[in-house]
Amino acid sequence: MFKCLYCFLVLFFVACASDSQSDLTDSMAINRVTYANNVKGIIDNNCTICHNSGQNPIAPFPLETYLEVRDKTKFGSLLNRIQLPDGDPAIMPKTGKMPQKLIDVVVVWAAKGYIKN
Ligand code: HEC
Repeated sequence: MFKCLYCFLVLFFVACASDSQSDLTDSMAINRVTYANNVKGIIDNNCTICHNSGQNPIAPFPLETYLEVRDKTKFGSLLNRIQLPDGDPAIMPKTGKMPQKLIDVVVVWAAKGYIKN
């Protein structure tokens, strides 16, 4: 009984995960991925608590503006650091890897040339 329930749950989650993946790809193909509409919210929710320009930032540089985020993505290690395996000591956010859906948005944004608005 327990085994079946477990299988069901696994299948259920696998099905949901692949669904949201294709939804995401579809919606990103239709809508442009931009900093203002898609990326800024992800960074604000997951990074600026440490990466900010306040009095005592926890991280050594802010990720608050388009140029700060674009330059760390284009020339720095941002794409690499958000895609490390969960549990890697260098993963960003330091508190744990983001859902793949969110990572994909940043990856697509970079691949399409860092559109601002
Ligand atoms: C809990 C605090 C915290 C959060 C949240 C956090 N960071 Fe960091 N981040 C740090 C600290 C501290 C460092 C410097 C030490 C290091 O490199 O690990 C750092 C370093 C980095 C670096 C390396 C910069 C370089 O010059 O090599 C990148 C890129 C980065 N963070 C991106 C992000 C992104 C993107 C997010 C959100 C998805 C994020 N961080 C969330 C604390 C955080």
